[in-house]
Amino acid sequence: MAAKAPQTPKTPNRKYSSSVTSRPRRFSKAGEPTEDNELSSKIHRQFRDAHRGHRAHAGLDPSRASTGVVWCTERAYEHGFLDEPDKWANLGQGAPEVDDDIEGSFQRPQTIDISINSREYGPTAGIKSLRAAVANLYNAHHRQGKESKYTYENVCIVPGGRAGLIRIAAVLGNSYLGFFIPDYTAYNEMLSLFKNFAAIPSPLSEEDGYHIHPTKISEEIARGTTVILTSNPRNPTGHVVANPELAEIQDICRDRATLVMDEFYGGYNYTSDCDGTVVSAAENVHDVNEDDVLIIDGLTKRFRLPGWRIAWIVGPKEFIKAIGSCGSYLDGGANVPFQEAAVSMLEPDKVLKEMKALQAHFMEKRDYVIGRLRKMGFHLPEENVPQSTFYLWLDLSSLPTGLNDGLNFFQKCLEEKVIVVPGIFFDLNPSKRRDLFDSPCHHFVRFSYGPKMEVLEMGLDGIERVVKKARRDSDLRRSYHSVLYDRE
Ligand SMILES: Cc1ncc(COP(=O)(O)O)c(C=O)c1O
Repeated sequence: MAAKAPQTPKTPNRKYSSSVTSRPRRFSKAGEPTEDNELSSKIHRQFRDAHRGHRAHAGLDPSRASTGVVWCTERAYEHGFLDEPDKWANLGQGAPEVDDDIEGSFQRPQTIDISINSREYGPTAGIKSLRAAVANLYNAHHRQGKESKYTYENVCIVPGGRAGLIRIAAVLGNSYLGFFIPDYTAYNEMLSLFKNFAAIPSPLSEEDGYHIHPTKISEEIARGTTVILTSNPRNPTGHVVANPELAEIQDICRDRATLVMDEFYGGYNYTSDCDGTVVSAAENVHDVNEDDVLIIDGLTKRFRLPGWRIAWIVGPKEFIKAIGSCGSYLDGGANVPFQEAAVSMLEPDKVLKEMKALQAHFMEKRDYVIGRLRKMGFHLPEENVPQSTFYLWLDLSSLPTGLNDGLNFFQKCLEEKVIVVPGIFFDLNPSKRRDLFDSPCHHFVRFSYGPKMEVLEMGLDGIERVVKKARRDSDLRRSYHSVLYDRE
């Protein structure tokens, strides 16, 4: 028998030959003092310029950056906003004043205890004591005498309203989600991030103040929409859908659609003599675990703590369980020390007193602003005076040409150190329109009376100067024309 040849150990079948790595690779460096790089080649430069995706940072989609708000801020920076912010009236940002000088309002903490416990990761649904405090608040304010009550299992704490909305979006099933125009600008960008549902915008009619009628909801459901998202009270119009219409909408949706009610402005309610009543869909829920109503609110607006980033979602247990869990891959949960500090703020009697103070103070500011704008000649009919939020959806159509659209008005206000938000940013994809003048939000701006009275006064003085100048110029133009005409 022939002796077997000794076996040589098999070399592993290598997919990438090592010789490849030793081959010199050519990454040309732009700007290198050599003639042999892409800068020297016309066709390479052409390829670069042909498409955004061919440029450096090809992995970045700049259109994902929120355009409207960023654009407004950049224009304000160009006019010196960053250099002297105190000389400016920022009536653009949707933030309430945060000082402790509103009569009847409780003092916000200046320091907070940070327990050893709160150094640990917190539960992504929030700490139990705050979840229970939110449930207790909703039961006390909205569910007196009702059999079905919220418990901590119906509440998820989230790091701010936007994080909450994203969490809700992350757990939705394959569905059509209906939302309305105009509404909170972030909805559009936020909803387009998700592939699990199709977001369908539905324009509201200007003639009746962009009101969401129950018939509109029926139409949405008839076309197969199974999730409806709206702010109520509404950003940017300041209007509110209250009972009995709100209850009717909830009846239409029951067992048919999930209703996501963004109630961030629910406390800014001027329909009930500033008695502290908060508008909430929680009032009309039959069974807290069966009715698919998700309510989102937080400390941001009605507790005037936008920097704390503490918000909550209230809804059926099953939904809340999913929304709590998805925090583990989305945002990691709200910070624990501020959750602990929030618990005592939500005591129902304290909140009622706070809401009374808030409503009286903000209604006074609303009336002041409306009074001054009317004197300047703005069209603000009594039936359209907003009953909620701290926004005015200001119609510019009575102003002279050149000032009677949102972008031009915004531009002229910047020259007087005043910031407002052009209405088209509340429209969907305004830049995709063939003509921006066709937008239904073209002749509006959103005016926020969130800031302190001194700031409002300064802002309105600036707007008055803008309006007076435009009227003077327009009168001059008219008399010049009539002189010309008379001569002919
Ligand atoms: C209707 C509405 N929902 C939610 C939010 C977001 O709140 P937060 O600042 O807590 O993310 C805002 C903020 O402007 C808003 O207007």
